[in-house]
Amino acid sequence: MAEKFTVIQSGFTALERIQGILAEPIEIRDPVAPRSLPADGRGEIRFEGVWFAYKPNEFALQDVNFVVAPGEKVALVGPTGSGKSTIARLLCRLYEPTRGRILIDGVDIRDLPQAELRRHVGTILQDAFLFSGNVIDNIALGDDYRFEEVVAASQQTEIAPFIEQLAEGYFTQIRARGTNISGGQRQLLALARAAIRKPRILLLDEATSSLDTATEFVVQRALTELLRDRTAVTIAHRLSTIRNVDRILVLRRGRLVEEGTHAELLALGGLFARLYELEQIGP
Ligand SMILES: Nc1ncnc2c1ncn2[C@@H]1O[C@H](COP(=O)(O)OP(=O)(O)O)[C@@H](O)[C@H]1O
Ligand SMILES: [Mg+2]
Repeated sequence: MAEKFTVIQSGFTALERIQGILAEPIEIRDPVAPRSLPADGRGEIRFEGVWFAYKPNEFALQDVNFVVAPGEKVALVGPTGSGKSTIARLLCRLYEPTRGRILIDGVDIRDLPQAELRRHVGTILQDAFLFSGNVIDNIALGDDYRFEEVVAASQQTEIAPFIEQLAEGYFTQIRARGTNISGGQRQLLALARAAIRKPRILLLDEATSSLDTATEFVVQRALTELLRDRTAVTIAHRLSTIRNVDRILVLRRGRLVEEGTHAELLALGGLFARLYELEQIGP
């Protein structure tokens, strides 16, 4: 009896926690009068006077203004805690600006249904989350894609050869923690997941920072292919990996403080140049 009582008790505790989550108010909702992105839009991003605070009056972003042109590749850099990931979270509307607005192809993202926003803004994070299910499930994520589309996306992102040598190919089960798949392969799978949706914009938050140099090379090559003709915002810790972007935005304590090409920013001799110098010296 005493033993069972403990089990029941911990069951109640779990139930209470679940109830807490369910009772959490949903702050981000689909608009009442939703709009669509213009069919001929090519992925312009515009931040207009964006302020954001996680906690009242502690602003993680302060008056951030920038435009990323369609097809342009921009990198966000800055010290830890400067607000890089916050910009990424606002762009995919995990949070909403406290003040100001964010436009994609001229449309305020608050006026877009969330499903549409997710389709057009592909995100690739540091550690791709894998679900227990087969390879196809992990690429299609419950959306209706034909088998050929899954294969095409896998080929485009260089993960196809790996999938094909698995015991059951595309039908091989993947374990949730991804123990039967390496870090690099996880990232390639995440690229395939993005590729199949043909997003206008790709958002990369330290997508290659957890990989060793050899794997990073393969992922980087697949990534370059995926980014072709798409707008991309890359958050990078290692400044050496963003040499090829068109423009770099430098953040410091929630404000944009510098912007320019790699060479321009080095010549400027400001924060970017200092961060770069520190990296050259090494950890
Ligand atoms: N979920 C959160 N709740 C409260 N504060 C947060 C949260 N996430 C980030 N912050 C704070 O916001 C600031 C910016 O964080 P972040 O955008 O994650 O920085 P970065 O990605 O540049 O390292 C930091 O001061 C951080 O402590
Ligand atoms: Mg971050």
